[in-house]
Amino acid sequence: MADSVKVALLGCGTVGGEVARLLHEQADELAARAGAPVELAGIAVRRPDKHPELPQHLLTSDAEALVDSDVDVVVELIGGIDPVRGWLLSALDQGKSVVTANKALLAECSAELSEAADASGADLYFEAAVAGAIPLLRPLRESLAGDRITRVLGIVNGTTNYILSAMDETGSGYTETLEEASRLGYAEADPTADVDGYDAASKAAILASLAFHTRVTASDVHREGIGAIGAADIDAAKALGRTVKLLAICERVLDAEGGESVSARVYPAMIPRSHQLAGVNGAFNAVYVEADAAGELMFFGHGAGGSPTASAVLGDLIAVARNRVLGGRGPRESAHAQLPVRPMGKTPTRYHISLDVADKPGVLAQVALVFAEHDVSIAAVRQRDADSTASLVVVTHLAPDAALQSTVDDLAKLEVVREVISVMRVEGDD
Ligand SMILES: NC(=O)c1ccc[n+]([C@@H]2O[C@H](COP(=O)([O-])OP(=O)(O)OC[C@H]3O[C@@H](n4cnc5c(N)ncnc54)[C@H](OP(=O)(O)O)[C@@H]3O)[C@@H](O)[C@H]2O)c1
Repeated sequence: MADSVKVALLGCGTVGGEVARLLHEQADELAARAGAPVELAGIAVRRPDKHPELPQHLLTSDAEALVDSDVDVVVELIGGIDPVRGWLLSALDQGKSVVTANKALLAECSAELSEAADASGADLYFEAAVAGAIPLLRPLRESLAGDRITRVLGIVNGTTNYILSAMDETGSGYTETLEEASRLGYAEADPTADVDGYDAASKAAILASLAFHTRVTASDVHREGIGAIGAADIDAAKALGRTVKLLAICERVLDAEGGESVSARVYPAMIPRSHQLAGVNGAFNAVYVEADAAGELMFFGHGAGGSPTASAVLGDLIAVARNRVLGGRGPRESAHAQLPVRPMGKTPTRYHISLDVADKPGVLAQVALVFAEHDVSIAAVRQRDADSTASLVVVTHLAPDAALQSTVDDLAKLEVVREVISVMRVEGDD
């Protein structure tokens, strides 16, 4: 067997702790698969004194020195952008391969990390950064490399999916459901990154970059969270045979001249209860991919948690170790398409709008006129909805998002509209 592959583990918390455990417990098996022993050469944590469970001779608080020491691979499980970015760039510059689960870093700095990896010939793997245990990035990067992906639609944040599933099931409001999720450990003490959609937006950037061979960063992703969703929205969805999910949507969009652009967006949307993603409840993740030749594909599983995420990290580590042992590299960044990113206002979407309107003749005509003024065509209208307080529900056809927003603004100004009860995008029908 070849010489051992020496690994620096940066971070030994929820995910890193499981990686260290599995590396130790499955050492022989992993060595056989990698073609060489995979040896933990050091572990960097913030507070070494808080880790009596780890081999003390491996522990350090100096991550930078560990990266610079005699190691072949750096596994980064700390999170955040700085100071981790500098350590990983330094590792790649030195020709050391990097495995990371850090979506925030990849969504911002993927280009410079990939360039550093290419310059030195090192590997950069990050399967665990999106959808935890689910093999998703490798299929996008490798298995589908010969296909033309048209859409990636996913539930990629377990916390928000837990909250929306519970609201749908119990009929309770957002605030009380979030409190319950925190009590049960499904939401962080500070849930902002999850409920405001930042976490999902980072993942959407990574997915769009891989799917469309284009550099997409988190700031290119239109982002809306779930904080404004109330029981009335959930009821409105139910009345239409739909459920509400926080979706990460990455699409190839054709423009009138035949050119293509990329749309990447995160927002809560109503999807039909019959859609494959509608049955994905609780803390699970699922991603639905459409490609020209492959057709529809669905990836489902645990999107977070120490042990599921460690599975994806170890898969990457074995791949990287094999490359070291046998020579050669994993796939490089593929950003040759360089498609423009479409602004949200110009992205075609569909709206569900539920209104409380005055009960008098001519109301429908006034409402319809507002849609016509914005060139938004109506797919369905329902009056007097017995299941909700709405007296008028309108579902539109596809129209530029900005036109739909202006339509809602003008509807709210109509004297006959007493209240705009719920406005939500509709996805997953085609
Ligand atoms: N948790 C999940 O389910 C999950 C799923 C997918 C991806 N991820 C990603 O995986 C990464 C790690 O997440 P996690 O949940 O395992 O985090 P965590 O439990 O908070 O662990 C973070 C680890 O980093 C160490 N650390 C923090 N700052 C450090 C520094 N300056 N120098 C050295 N070590 C430092 C901490 O040391 P101490 O132990 O001494 O505090 C801790 O061991 C993140 O990028 C996250 O987004 C997590």
